[in-house]
Amino acid sequence: MNSGQAKPMRGGPTRRRVIGGAAGLAGAALLAGLAAPNLVRAQSAPFSMMRLPYADDALSPVISANTIGFHYGKHHAGYLANLNRMLETDDLKSQGMLDIIKSSAANPTKAGLFNNAAQVWNHDFYWNSLRPNGGGRPTGRMAELIGRSFGDHDKFVAAFAAAAIGQFASGWAWLCLEGDRLTIRRTGNADTPVYVAGVRPLLTIDVWEHAYYLDYQNRRADYVNAVIERLLNWEFAERNLG
Ligand SMILES: [Fe+2]
Repeated sequence: MNSGQAKPMRGGPTRRRVIGGAAGLAGAALLAGLAAPNLVRAQSAPFSMMRLPYADDALSPVISANTIGFHYGKHHAGYLANLNRMLETDDLKSQGMLDIIKSSAANPTKAGLFNNAAQVWNHDFYWNSLRPNGGGRPTGRMAELIGRSFGDHDKFVAAFAAAAIGQFASGWAWLCLEGDRLTIRRTGNADTPVYVAGVRPLLTIDVWEHAYYLDYQNRRADYVNAVIERLLNWEFAERNLG
């Protein structure tokens, strides 16, 4: 594909705390280094919140503890609560997270279930796509892939930022592996590339307003550029190469 064009698809020591104290199996697996698309929760419903892999103020000043408090503590937690409530009476309740996403994506009568399951998965992936003192330029295999796929790192940054900034309304920008090349995709609302055959997500940026509005108001570009420059977790991306 034209790698420069995104594909649209359907803390401080005194208050250093890690929110989400009840680490689920998915969180434990992530902390052990299992990454997407192996970001598969081993258990079926009720699912638990992924534990954040850093303190709630560790991404400041790019993303404040206040934003994480609402984003992780309210929005992400809300999707999880909705999902578990829906699964109580759904015939997919015994399935794992990715199977629920795949099955509900193919069934228009399960749009609500898809939206909440995909948002849980997307947010798990987003928190892991960021890290304190991240950003910069990857080395090794990722650097080679970026050169081959985009020309150079600056061209990758321009394409990734354009996809994230240009996503109309709510959605996500993704760095993916397709075949032997990296691609950039964007998805609207809850949609996700994780169930698309041949597409392996490596990193994502959440561009829903709840991800940045408390810190940046309408300045989405400032949020996106700061995340790319200072927070992207290239080690996570490299693990996702498989
Ligand atoms: Fe979000």
